Amino acid sequence: MNDRLTPEGLKARAEDFRTHHRPGNVRGLLVAGSGLKLQIPGWEAAETVEMADLMPFPMHHLEGHSHTITLWRRGDETLMVMNGRFHLYQGYSAAEVVAPVRLAGLLGAEFMLATNATGALDPEIPPGSLVVIRDHLNLQGANPLVGPWAAALAQGPQFPDMSEAYSPRLRELAMRLAEEAGFTVFEGVYAAVLGPSFETPAEVRMLAALGGTVVGMSTVPEVIAARHMGLDVLVLSLASNPAAGLVDRPLSHEEVLEEGRKAAGRLTTLLGRLAETMF
Ligand code: HPA
Repeated sequence: MNDRLTPEGLKARAEDFRTHHRPGNVRGLLVAGSGLKLQIPGWEAAETVEMADLMPFPMHHLEGHSHTITLWRRGDETLMVMNGRFHLYQGYSAAEVVAPVRLAGLLGAEFMLATNATGALDPEIPPGSLVVIRDHLNLQGANPLVGPWAAALAQGPQFPDMSEAYSPRLRELAMRLAEEAGFTVFEGVYAAVLGPSFETPAEVRMLAALGGTVVGMSTVPEVIAARHMGLDVLVLSLASNPAAGLVDRPLSHEEVLEEGRKAAGRLTTLLGRLAETMF
C-alpha cells in the first residue's frame, strides 16, 4: 500500500489540513455529484481545494467529473463538500476511494451525506426519481476495511455492524424534504457493482431478484468506511435511467449525465434544506 495512505499517513494529512485550512469544528462531509451549484442558507462557500493537493495518490479523470473539496463555513464550523468522487472502476483502490471520508472522519465529521446516479431495477421507478437508500448489496468484490484500518484507526471495530448503516432518522427527514422539494421519491436498496460496463439484462434480473431497487457503481465503499468511523450516513440516489433490458434501447453515460443536469435544481434545493435542517 502507498505508505502515505496508511492510517498514520492519513492522520498526518489530517494534521496538515488543520494547519493549512483551519477548519475549526468539522460537522460533516457531503459527497455530491459534480456540477451541482449548491446553496446552503447560513453557510458560505469559503475555499475550494484541489483533491490532488489533499490526496497522496495520482488522479485520473472522466468527462463530467471534477475533483475538488469546497469548505463551507459558518463561524467556527466547517462542512466539507466533495465535488466528484473516486470510483473503483477508474482503477482506484478501495482505500483510495474512501480516503476523503477518512480524512473527514479524522477531522471530526459527524455524518456523511452522499448523492449518486443509478439505474432503476424496478420498472415502477421513473427516470428522474429520487431514491432514499435504506440498505445495500455490496457486489463490488472490494471492502475498504481490508488491511490495517480496523486496529490502527481505532475508532472502529474490525467487524462493524451494518444492520443500520443508513440512519433511519436522516432517511425519514430526507423523504419528507424530498417530497417538499417536488421529487418523486422512493426508498430502496442500492445494489453496488464494480462497472464500468453497464449491466446485462440478465444481471439486471438477478439484481432485482436479490432485492436491489437501484444499481450503481459507487458509494458503498464510502458508506462502509464512514460507518466504521461512527459517522451517520444518508445516501440519495437519482434514478437516471431504467436499468438495462427494462426499455428497448442501449444505455449511455450521456443519458445519465443529462438526467443529472435536469434534476440538478431540485437536488440542489433538497441538499441545501437538508444541510440547513441537520444542524
Ligand atoms: N447501472 C449502473 N450504474 C449506473 C446506472 C446503471 O444503469 N445508471 C447510472 N449509474
